Amino acid sequence: GITRDYKFDIRMQNVMRLCQAKSIVTVNDQFPGPTITAREGDRVTVKVVNHVQYNVTIHWHGIRQLRSGWADGPAYITQCPIQTGQSYVYNFTITGQRGTLFWHAHVSWLRVTMYGPIIILPKRGVPYPFPQPYKEFPIIFGEWWKADTEKIINQTLKTGGAPNVSDAYTINGLPGPLYSCSAKDTFKLKVKPGKTYMLRLINAALNDELFFSIANHSLTVVEADAVYVKPFETSTVLITPGQTTNVLLKTEHRHANALYLMAARPYATGPGAFDNSTTAGILEYHLPSPKTKKTTKLPLLKPTLPIFNDTTFAMKFNRKHRSLASSKFPAKVPQKVDRRFFFTVGLGLHPCSNPNKTCQGPNNTMRTASVNNVSFVMPNIALLQAHFCNQSKGVYTTDFPANPPFKFNYTGNPPSNIMASSGTKVVVLPFNTSVELVLQDTSIIGAESHPLHLHGFDFFVLGLGMGNFNPNKDPSSFNLVDPAERNTVGVPSGGWVAIRFLADNPGVWFMHCHLEVHTSCGAQDGLDCDGTGSAASQKLPPPPSESP
Ligand code: C2O
Repeated sequence: GITRDYKFDIRMQNVMRLCQAKSIVTVNDQFPGPTITAREGDRVTVKVVNHVQYNVTIHWHGIRQLRSGWADGPAYITQCPIQTGQSYVYNFTITGQRGTLFWHAHVSWLRVTMYGPIIILPKRGVPYPFPQPYKEFPIIFGEWWKADTEKIINQTLKTGGAPNVSDAYTINGLPGPLYSCSAKDTFKLKVKPGKTYMLRLINAALNDELFFSIANHSLTVVEADAVYVKPFETSTVLITPGQTTNVLLKTEHRHANALYLMAARPYATGPGAFDNSTTAGILEYHLPSPKTKKTTKLPLLKPTLPIFNDTTFAMKFNRKHRSLASSKFPAKVPQKVDRRFFFTVGLGLHPCSNPNKTCQGPNNTMRTASVNNVSFVMPNIALLQAHFCNQSKGVYTTDFPANPPFKFNYTGNPPSNIMASSGTKVVVLPFNTSVELVLQDTSIIGAESHPLHLHGFDFFVLGLGMGNFNPNKDPSSFNLVDPAERNTVGVPSGGWVAIRFLADNPGVWFMHCHLEVHTSCGAQDGLDCDGTGSAASQKLPPPPSESP
């Protein structure tokens, strides 16, 4: 591989959306930010120079960071943030990965405008395991707030309430024609008939899982989270924040000279406060012959998206993902398990610790996540800092409960696991430990699935289902042959997902819900939040046996 050097200058930029100007944090004055392109095996260096008043870090979402954990990016976990006027050089080698990933800011809510694609091409001369596309385009979904998002998050953290829903979803930074005052801010994809295109879909939205579809076209999914999958056809793609999906789009002659709408809007299982509005772009056919005149007066054909709470579609779609498991791309699923963990995400009940006693759970309880029925307590010093200052003693304990309890009805209303204890506990996993996690959602009244993202690893998705995970029955249906391998998985509301990975990457790794609102919640002790945050997650760093 070669070395590819990038420079990211972080600056404020005025941008106009929905007829309102806003000053946003950008990379190299671009929104969305620049694309990082590299090949498998290349080294990438990015010099980030911070010219704004906020602290920043950048995370290379999905990059495994083998032996380069310090380049991972989450603030206070693997690095201190880059302060105003300072710079930091990220330096990592892309090993054994190719496909679509993305980078984003990893401090506070700055990723709302600081994100861009990472495109990893196969090694030179190595073809895709599917027909070579004629052209490739990144399509990156986002969310737009008219107000200052840093103010919104601070307000949310103060009150423990839900943040304002965004004012628009976006495709490549543009809300599109279905929002008022936005028609000119529409992403247009110009194609020729009779070709195969590859769309690199990225969900960089802060808080919403999205359905995406293009009118009159089906899509063939070929890759998810930068791992090839057995190709399958679908009219709609479902994509959680943090996930990436490559799809092939065949353009047909009968469609020539027409305009098609591509659209995305949220999937949510509850009727709660969420924005069901739709972002759209236009797929525009151009005939190859210059003599044919372009048609502009044709009506726009609109796609049909599943209804907002179509969980049947969601489950089916997620189950269709299978890795290639071929001799060239073997699925190295750990067949035995050394350590098991049981996560609850969503509405787990816990005595209310909010001094204002404004907890939302029944009988003065608060909603928290837990690991092996322990709920995280924020230490008064960041673990990174404690380690650096040699003050780790007393900051955390290592008496982590070994076995998951499995004795509660997690999907009752309310769930019965009100016995979670609190602690700042760290698990130290020996190198090459095989880890199995059951992620149990408990938010029977929650409104969304929780996209759990693990830094530093790809994990195998062995199975998923609705209701309580049943340790006596469900493991027998685990897929240990060709499960999808990903870095982010949506835990269905009121259901579970089982994942497995090999802890073969020394370091401290963040695992968290990729709904930004939940990460923010978990980062604050005593908040009444319905998600998994940094907090719960830090209990599962598969960290190093520390170097001598
Ligand atoms: Cu995409 Cu911890 O992040």
